[in-house]
Amino acid sequence: MKELTYFNGEFVEPGAKCVSLDDRGYTFGDGVYEVTRVHEGRCFAFSYHQDRLYRSMREMDIPVRMPPDDFQELHEIIIEQSGITEGYIYVQITRGVSPRHHAYDRSKLEPQFLMSIHPVDMDEVNRLADGVKAITLPDERWARVDIKTLNLVPNVLAQTKAEKKGAYAAIYLRDGICTEGSTSNVFVVKDGIIYTHPADHFILKGITRQMVVTKVAPSLGITVLEKEFDKEFLANADEIFFSDTIGGVIPVTTLDRQPVGDGKPGKVSQRLADGYNKVLDEGLA
Ligand code: PDD
Repeated sequence: MKELTYFNGEFVEPGAKCVSLDDRGYTFGDGVYEVTRVHEGRCFAFSYHQDRLYRSMREMDIPVRMPPDDFQELHEIIIEQSGITEGYIYVQITRGVSPRHHAYDRSKLEPQFLMSIHPVDMDEVNRLADGVKAITLPDERWARVDIKTLNLVPNVLAQTKAEKKGAYAAIYLRDGICTEGSTSNVFVVKDGIIYTHPADHFILKGITRQMVVTKVAPSLGITVLEKEFDKEFLANADEIFFSDTIGGVIPVTTLDRQPVGDGKPGKVSQRLADGYNKVLDEGLA
């Protein structure tokens, strides 16, 4: 089992120095990325990640160079060659290389393609089921976080503050409304109903979130409302959970040092986590 890195058509050493200093990803964070879970040696929900990546590229006016079939085949090749069965694949596409100037000329740029595969520590992932801490922080990101761009500075700062306090992630508040987490989507359970921010421009439409909303909750007969809620609603929740590609459904047991509910992973969160793991085991194209 080994980590592998692929850059513009060839495998290179992980961390190899092969990126131009004029790459717009480096100078402006001008690019997009995607993170796809590898489970039992297969990509989970590959088509969802591919659709989201192509959407991010359309929104950013970055041309797609790789045909969808080749893109999928490359995922299969990197998994096979790495021997990694539990991990994730990182894909990054920057707008291209040109001397630093804010405006771009699409006709003169060739997007730069990076892909890498990494194992995940399954003991660490399994421990998340015991519950995690979260802290609230102001959402200081731009107003198009539905696009998965490389510009992650606010997330980097928020996540660092969260981890310094022993939290799994921060929960963002924008104008008093709870949007999402610094690396995950956020759900609240109140009186048996689950609430999450609508998938507009103020959250990333997480693939795990989509699984919960469209597959797992309906199969368990749990009502989901995609509706805004504020800090007070969050603080009075019966349960809170995060969702993301690496951790799945993650119960939050402490919010801003206060216990959530009885301070143990909630029943609804646990059912959803089990339901999500079932979908993960079944696999999805
Ligand atoms: N982060 N919201 C934000 C801000 C995120 O960064 C992520 C994922 C999610 C969850 O999306 P998904 O279910 O598709 O993983 C929501 C990834 C893992 C990352 O940036 O590494």
